[in-house]
Amino acid sequence: MSILPHAGNGNVSVPDILSRKTVPSVGSPESKSKITCLTAYDYPTARLLDDAGVDIILVGDSVGMAVLGYDSTLPVTLDEMLHHVRAVRRGTRRALLVADMPYGSFHVSIEDSVRNAMRLVKEGGAEAVKIEGGERRLELIHRLVEAEIPVMGHVGLTPQSINAMGGFHVQGKSADAARQVERDARAVEAAGAFAVVLESMPRELAAQITERLRIPTIGIGAGPDCDGQVLVFHDLVGLTEGYTPKFVRRYADLAAEITRAVTDYCGDVRSGKFPSDAESYHSAAELRKKAVKV
Ligand code: KIV
Repeated sequence: MSILPHAGNGNVSVPDILSRKTVPSVGSPESKSKITCLTAYDYPTARLLDDAGVDIILVGDSVGMAVLGYDSTLPVTLDEMLHHVRAVRRGTRRALLVADMPYGSFHVSIEDSVRNAMRLVKEGGAEAVKIEGGERRLELIHRLVEAEIPVMGHVGLTPQSINAMGGFHVQGKSADAARQVERDARAVEAAGAFAVVLESMPRELAAQITERLRIPTIGIGAGPDCDGQVLVFHDLVGLTEGYTPKFVRRYADLAAEITRAVTDYCGDVRSGKFPSDAESYHSAAELRKKAVKV
């Protein structure tokens, strides 16, 4: 059964994103501004991002680390993703809503993987799914596209491969490694993806891939020459604890602001300053004159 409160109301569609390819030049000149993408995992954040005009809202499996307190993205389940995708769906009207396929949900048979992606569309209201991996995902991406599920690829550093890669490292630094990243990006395009995330790689490599692909590239830690950029919302607003990679630009320090607000609240409650008389309800005037006798 489907629960799609706003599906179809979004103004940004998959063809719109394709038409925003900046290099090589396609489409009309006025549609050439860079694509903006941010993660969201809940209704109020989705509303704020949507109202601010973000083009793509990604319910990333980074929810595992940003919101659920896991050490990596690996434990995130399809049901957890669905819970967050539904909330974001309810808050998204204009942006294109893309849902990450979590680890394990597409490492099964092609049939089961397509079924899992369909759940994100039918039950979650996602308009596209994102899949980590390049050449190895060719067949799956092709089958998803055949099943009318638009796919965003994701190559370079793929956090779901943390155990195989031995940590989070910049990818494509040697000539061989760069060739592999480019082959992965080309495979994703050939399989029918409408866009591809390029994560953590030298900007020169990302620029070359962007130049050579017909689909838009969305960079994260891949320099300024991609067709668009994505960041994790919690990194952008300063809600992430500990180490943040150098490609993160903090536009706000919400952790400090929340700590200040909560500390002030606790202080006011303890000292009796909150709530004030003006923040209290009052009895009707005639009842106020008499003491209420029970
Ligand atoms: O899960 C996520 O948030 C992502 C983006 C960082 C691209 O994959």
